[in-house]
Amino acid sequence: MCQVFLAFVCIIGILAASSPVQHARGIRNFNTNQLIQVTGAHKFVSATAADLRGPCPGLNALANHNYISHDGVVSVLDAILVSLDVFGFGPDTGVVAGILSLYGANLPLLDFSIGNSPGGLRGILGIIFGKGGGLSGTHNQFESDSSATRCDLYEPGCPDNYTPLGDRFGALINLLEQNPDPKANFDVIIQHRVNTFHHSVQNNPFFFYGPVQMLVSCIIHTLIPALMSNHSAEYPKGYLDVDGLSSLYGMNRGRDGQFRYTRNERIPENWFGRPRDDPYVGLTYGLPDLLQMWTKYPETFIIGGNTGEVNSFTPLDITDFTHGVYSAESLLLGNNAACFAFQLVQILTPSILVNLEAILAGLLADVAAVVGEQILALACPTLEAMKLESLNQYPGYKKSAGYGM
Ligand code: HEM
Ligand SMILES: *[C@@H]1O[C@H](CO)[C@@H](O)[C@H](O)[C@H]1NC(C)=O
Repeated sequence: MCQVFLAFVCIIGILAASSPVQHARGIRNFNTNQLIQVTGAHKFVSATAADLRGPCPGLNALANHNYISHDGVVSVLDAILVSLDVFGFGPDTGVVAGILSLYGANLPLLDFSIGNSPGGLRGILGIIFGKGGGLSGTHNQFESDSSATRCDLYEPGCPDNYTPLGDRFGALINLLEQNPDPKANFDVIIQHRVNTFHHSVQNNPFFFYGPVQMLVSCIIHTLIPALMSNHSAEYPKGYLDVDGLSSLYGMNRGRDGQFRYTRNERIPENWFGRPRDDPYVGLTYGLPDLLQMWTKYPETFIIGGNTGEVNSFTPLDITDFTHGVYSAESLLLGNNAACFAFQLVQILTPSILVNLEAILAGLLADVAAVVGEQILALACPTLEAMKLESLNQYPGYKKSAGYGM
């Protein structure tokens, strides 16, 4: 019954069957043990030119505080477990992120650079055995267009796809400053998501918002309030603090009011993270957040891309793409969007991994050993294959490695 590419769901199913868990969304008490340690072994140390940094502010900050290796090369398992431990990242989303990071990983060692290719012997091994190009090199596999603060890879006038831009970050901060009530934080983020989507449609002729890219770029927006909020007794669910967020993003506001990236993502002193016992589990928090975003602004949910010119966004026919298993409407129902995400990961990754099943089993067992019952079961419609050729209408898909390898 467990086909090779279904191993992921089977293992999740088995874990969950042995210990089902219910998350009480919304019930949360503030505890001072949420303080993130930034002294001693975890004091902030600036990244040198040789240290690798990339498209993820969370991992960059973890490296600058020596929670993961300061040089920016990290084992897949460490990236997941440390993200969970320090920021309360969800184990399920963590495992999916860990699997996607394999696209940029050095496969024999199962480690990856959080930025560009590490070069040297590691880089060479990576090139021989796997991509090894680091997270920055995973365009359209993990790193996606219409990010929260980064440029699209093929966007004209842009430096690269991983350096945050001061003006995009500033646009987010402006929205926050116009709506300072912490209760409005999530609305601000989804408004920003709408803006980053339109920005790509209007500026990048090769904007590709495929299934993976749509999910990745939407989820990373939700990570900002979910994982980058400060917490207090008054706001146990957290609130976005402009200075704290700027620090976490390595952004400095000049006298002219403009933000500039310093490459110094730093966890503020006296910063209270998400409660460790209430991580941002994809199924209980991430999915409802996404559904809220997608139903409020349906354009953020329409998979597709530009066709070589700006403002040429053309939606993909989901029914055709999934051979009738899902439709644009049904993806919004129940757990279908999560199912679709997990299935995309399963179907798309095996081509790079000879030993996928063993790697996944190991990864899941190790994560489960730490978090146990927090990995949940999903009962999903069977999706055997996708009609990848229908993505060829999007030049932004064809220009990059696309899916698989
Ligand atoms: C296993 C661990 C993780 C991996 C492999 C990972 C990987 C990535 C990647 C590849 C991107 C770029 C996506 C894009 O192009 O849009 C990204 C973006 C992002 N990540 Fe992570 N991440 C991890 C953990 C975290 C954590 C713990 C946080 C929060 C503290 C975080 C917050 C973010 C945010 C906010 C962005 C959006 C960046 C922007 O465009 O401004 N990530 N991550
Ligand atoms: C975070 O919240 C705590 C608790 O309210 C507060 O004491 C602290 O100053 C805040 N931290 C920052 C850096 O704003």
